[in-house]
Amino acid sequence: MPSIVALDLDAWRPTLAPGVQESAVHAIEDGGVLVLPRVNFVFTERERRFLSSEWSDGHAKHISLDGTRLKGARGAPRDLSELTAMVTRFARDAADLVVALFPRYAPYVQRARTSFRPEPAVGRNVSWRKDDSRLHLDAFPSRPTHGERILRVFSNVNPAQDRVWRVGESFEAVARTFLPRIRDPLPGSAAVLAALRITKSPRSAYDHLMLNLHDRAKEDLAYQRDCAQEVVHFAPGATWLCFSDQVMHAAMSGQYLLEQTIHLPVTALYDSAKAPLAILERLTGRTLVAAR
Ligand SMILES: [Fe+2]
Repeated sequence: MPSIVALDLDAWRPTLAPGVQESAVHAIEDGGVLVLPRVNFVFTERERRFLSSEWSDGHAKHISLDGTRLKGARGAPRDLSELTAMVTRFARDAADLVVALFPRYAPYVQRARTSFRPEPAVGRNVSWRKDDSRLHLDAFPSRPTHGERILRVFSNVNPAQDRVWRVGESFEAVARTFLPRIRDPLPGSAAVLAALRITKSPRSAYDHLMLNLHDRAKEDLAYQRDCAQEVVHFAPGATWLCFSDQVMHAAMSGQYLLEQTIHLPVTALYDSAKAPLAILERLTGRTLVAAR
C-alpha cells in the first residue's frame, strides 16, 4: 500500500532538520502521500466569504488561476480581484513549500496552475469516467503528458470538515492488474486526435496506457470495492502532497480545497526509475515515449 507519511512542519517556508528532506523525497517519489497537518493556509477575515459555492460560475469544475487570470468564477470585479489575490497567495505558498522540500524541482514550479474548489467533492452528476469518487490515477484525455509527472499540493481550507480520500494500491500493482486488459490504439489515431485538436499534442504510447489505467480502474466496480485500499482523513487546515499520476486516489467527501499542480519532467526526479513511465516501460518491455 502507498504510505501516508506525516511531517510535523509548521510553515510554508520551513527550515528543515537533517534527514527531513530525504524522507519527504522518499515518501513522494515512492508513491506515497506526504501530509503536513500544521501547514495551514489561513484566510483573512474578509476572505472567509469565499467559503461558499456561490463564487463558482456553474460551468467550470473548479475556479482556476492560469497565470494571472482567474477562470470559472463569478462575482463583482472587486470581489474577483480579492479572490484572485487569495488564490495567488496560495500559489506562492505552495510553490515555496515544494522548493523547500524538493530543491531539485525548483526550476519547474513557475509553470504551475492553481485551483480553488468551493463545491462539495461529491454530488455533481457526472459520468463514471469523470467520477473522482472512484479510485483513479490522474490522466487527462486532452492533455498528453509524454511521461511528465503531475505533482499536486492540496490544502483543506474548510474550517470544520475533513477532506476524505480513499487511497488504493501501488502504481505497479495497478499496472499489473490492468495492463493485460489494454488494447493498442488504432493505427494513426494519435495523429488524428491531435489534428482535430481533441488533444493538445499527439498522444504517446505512455498517454494511451495512462488513460486506459484511469478508465479500466474506474469502470471496474468489483475492483473499486475489493482492491486493497484505505480511507484517509485530511483534517481542517491540513496540507498534503502527492504525485497524482502515481497514487490511486478517490475523493469521498469534503468541501473547500485549494490545489496547486506542478508538471515535472522525469529528469527532474531524484530517482526517475520510480516514475510511472519507467515502471510501465519495464512491465511492457517497450519504449513508450519517443525521444524529443
Ligand atoms: Fe484525481
